Amino acid sequence: MLRVLAWSLLFLSSSSPLSAQIDPSKPLTKIAFGSCADQGKPLPIYDTIAAAKPDLLLLLGDNIYADLDKGRKVTPQVIQEKYELLAAVPEWQRLKAACPVLATWDDHDFGKNDGGAEFEIKDDSQKLFHDFFGTPADSPRRSRKGVYDAHVFGPEGKRVQVVLLDTRYFRAGLKTTKGRTIAPYGFIREPYAPSSDPAGAFLGDEQWNWLAEQLKVPAEVRLLCSSIQVISEDHPFEKWANVPAEQARLYKLLRDSKAKGVVILSGDRHLGELSVSTKAIDYPLYDITASGFNQGAKRWREQERNAYRVSSMPYGDHFGLVTVDWSAADPVVGLQLRDLAGEITLKQTFPLSLLTPQKKDPPKVPKQDDKKDDKPAPVEEKRPEGVLTPAEAAKKVGETVTVQFLVKSGRAVNEGKRLLLNSDADFKAKDNFTVLLNQKGMTGPYDKATYDTFKDKTIRATGKVSMYMTTPQLQIDEADSLVVVEPAKK
Ligand SMILES: [Fe+2]
Repeated sequence: MLRVLAWSLLFLSSSSPLSAQIDPSKPLTKIAFGSCADQGKPLPIYDTIAAAKPDLLLLLGDNIYADLDKGRKVTPQVIQEKYELLAAVPEWQRLKAACPVLATWDDHDFGKNDGGAEFEIKDDSQKLFHDFFGTPADSPRRSRKGVYDAHVFGPEGKRVQVVLLDTRYFRAGLKTTKGRTIAPYGFIREPYAPSSDPAGAFLGDEQWNWLAEQLKVPAEVRLLCSSIQVISEDHPFEKWANVPAEQARLYKLLRDSKAKGVVILSGDRHLGELSVSTKAIDYPLYDITASGFNQGAKRWREQERNAYRVSSMPYGDHFGLVTVDWSAADPVVGLQLRDLAGEITLKQTFPLSLLTPQKKDPPKVPKQDDKKDDKPAPVEEKRPEGVLTPAEAAKKVGETVTVQFLVKSGRAVNEGKRLLLNSDADFKAKDNFTVLLNQKGMTGPYDKATYDTFKDKTIRATGKVSMYMTTPQLQIDEADSLVVVEPAKK
């Protein structure tokens, strides 16, 4: 712990003379954060941030856009040019003089859109990142791969730990689907699908081990900074859920560490939102996304799906602010987004004690008299050779297959024009597979009574596998493409 504090002081006092200094022994009460700043466009929000007088500013990535020049290959020279452009922006100069800054990167300052470990000049890019942010020549960050970093600020009982992850340097390639999605600014791109590739990686072994050690460092509040969203799972763009095993690994590490006070800060999405998962770890895990120093959508846009969303700011430039009122017996944590005028557009407060692992009740063992009826639990009928399980069919996107499963949930949608039959009781579950019945050639409209005829029955469906957001599905257009498997005679 002492080593961490001493190193923090060294790092910040060695920054360029125009950078604001920080006293690591003082408790932090206001921490600003955000991402996505195109250095070629005005950045008035930097003055708004400075006016809010935060103790510290955390840059979560896309701090410059190095890869936007059409037809121009990204070279170390190009990245340097873009950093020089940002250095010359008066709002940046004023902000840097007013407020200490810590940073990690995302794809555009890394140098490759949605890029990862494969990027050829990542080491050059890393050096330029350190040069720009004034990382001292003797800092351990200069000699290791990746720009990850951590600091603790404040005295015992009021410590805030800042952990900046590097989600680029080590990240394995992502799996794209055959579908196409309209991205925020209207261009068309391939969305990402969950990948079960065992080579999938976000942090790399060294960074994972480092993170495990950081979570042992004593602190009351831990701001875990990830350039891309950790909790949000439904949108088709970059997110931890693209590699579910890595997302699960992060949750397990947080759970096993019993670290209190963790809040995730994220960026990248050109929107602001607050998500919370009550299942990821043993207390509510918040992920607040601030993404649009000057890249927030400029016009109102419809909200994308996010089952974990608490509140959002789907358009407009903004930054985030974490506040901690240490004067209360149970300190109060505030999570905010603020717009260009400095107005609060999203706010949530809670006592710090909320972020403490709760003991989970052991699973209840049903007693004999708890049984509601004597009906045996439904089981799936025998699957003939060549007929796939949902997990097997999920790997055949674009192919025509026959899949079989026990219907565990479902519902009629689109005013009865479609019926969804799911292999999992929770349609949002990672392993869920959906069979979708269209009206074409089928008996409709559908309603709850139609669904009840399929519930707890084994269905066998033939058709082409596609993706709806992150869920694999098979669409039935002809009545004879779907059969309900009769129970085998006992
Ligand atoms: Fe990004």
